[in-house]
Amino acid sequence: MIQGVSAHHLPSKWEWTLTYVVDEKCIKCKTTDCVVVCPVNCFYEGENMLVIHPDECIDCGVCVPECPVDAIKPDTEPGLEKWLALNRKYAQKWPHITVKKDMPKDARDHWDEMGKFDKYFSPNPGQGD
Ligand code: SF4
Ligand code: F3S
Repeated sequence: MIQGVSAHHLPSKWEWTLTYVVDEKCIKCKTTDCVVVCPVNCFYEGENMLVIHPDECIDCGVCVPECPVDAIKPDTEPGLEKWLALNRKYAQKWPHITVKKDMPKDARDHWDEMGKFDKYFSPNPGQGD
């Protein structure tokens, strides 16, 4: 600690980042490269996307570079409140996924698509492990 400066005045990653969340870029991509690197296995599988359980994620960030579509974000980024709520809600409904699966055959067709939540989001569970 810097002498004379309270730790409260030195915001660190740990103070600001509470969890990582998956956003709509995952929808219909579902590459699942993220699940195999997570040290605490906190991914859950929906029919066409994954979510992270916010209370289980330890904020390590290891999964972030694994995702080819940049779908995993720290919840400190602005505008992610909707996705934090969605990750929390469905992590409690969908089954656990800890192993990689083949991504959908048409996944690449959707990598750059916008508005995927309104078009395709499914509340149905995936198959899990
Ligand atoms: Fe798992 Fe770390 Fe990614 Fe959180 S940030 S989901 S703990 S790999
Ligand atoms: Fe989805 Fe990216 Fe993981 S597309 S399944 S968050 S690697």
